[in-house]
Amino acid sequence: MAEPATISYVFATSFAREEERLSLGEHLWDPGTTSRLAALGVGRGSRCLEIGAGRGSIAAWLAECGAAVTALDIDTSRLGWLRGCGVSVHRGDISRDPVPGGNYDLVHARLVVQHLADRAAAVRRMVAALRPGGHLVLEDTDTATTLATAGGVLRPRVRDAAYAVMAESGYHPRCGLLDVDLAHGAGLRDVRAEGRAEVITGGTPQGRWFALWLEHLKPAMVGRGLVTAAEVDAALADIDDPGTRWLSQVMITVIGRKGADEQAA
Ligand SMILES: C[S@@+](CC[C@H](N)C(=O)[O-])C[C@H]1O[C@@H](n2cnc3c(N)ncnc32)[C@H](O)[C@@H]1O
Repeated sequence: MAEPATISYVFATSFAREEERLSLGEHLWDPGTTSRLAALGVGRGSRCLEIGAGRGSIAAWLAECGAAVTALDIDTSRLGWLRGCGVSVHRGDISRDPVPGGNYDLVHARLVVQHLADRAAAVRRMVAALRPGGHLVLEDTDTATTLATAGGVLRPRVRDAAYAVMAESGYHPRCGLLDVDLAHGAGLRDVRAEGRAEVITGGTPQGRWFALWLEHLKPAMVGRGLVTAAEVDAALADIDDPGTRWLSQVMITVIGRKGADEQAA
């Protein structure tokens, strides 16, 4: 397999911090994801592909439900433990490497498409891996609500600077909404979408997920002159304060079905 040269994944960082960030993200988003996947009837006998599996919580949950699970990621360094759950783990780039297996009942990718350079092509490859009648579930964020408080937005200059840096790496602030068009563009049927935002309290594990985000981007934000280090530190102090409450991004879930008359790859 070739080295993944086309990756625009902005959060390639030290192992320990990425491990913590992924873990906190799972804590924040897994309940909403698993309830939506369960509603699709995933269970014993289902064939599932988890793309950009990260630390592996969703792949493990699918396996616990009795599904046959394949996990794909450009970085499988955190996924070895999944083999003990019966998950087939593959290293690869969804943008260009062969997708392992095929004829899946479910293909799921959370917080992955929003980091890809050619999103439409990647989604078409995901659809090609489905069996006729199988479901694609994409989950990506919309930034409309990020750090919104009852009084406005928590440190809006810092928030905007963080997204400006991320945009340089190909991140689109409305990617969750764009996924709806990508699902239609890839020929899926019965496309539906909904969003969920979480209420976050400062000083909690969920809050820490936001702190890691800003800490990671701080050198780039400050280095480009978008904000000062003191502004970022003030935002981090707010995020650590149990008296602060804000909204997360909106996690948009897009679900579409491959036509029963379409060919499997
Ligand atoms: C933000 S993390 C999300 C992890 C997991 N889906 C979750 O929601 O907890 C993005 C994951 O996608 C992986 N990834 C990024 N670009 C990828 C690509 N082109 N092909 C496959 N995986 C990719 C990263 O290595 C990382 O594990």
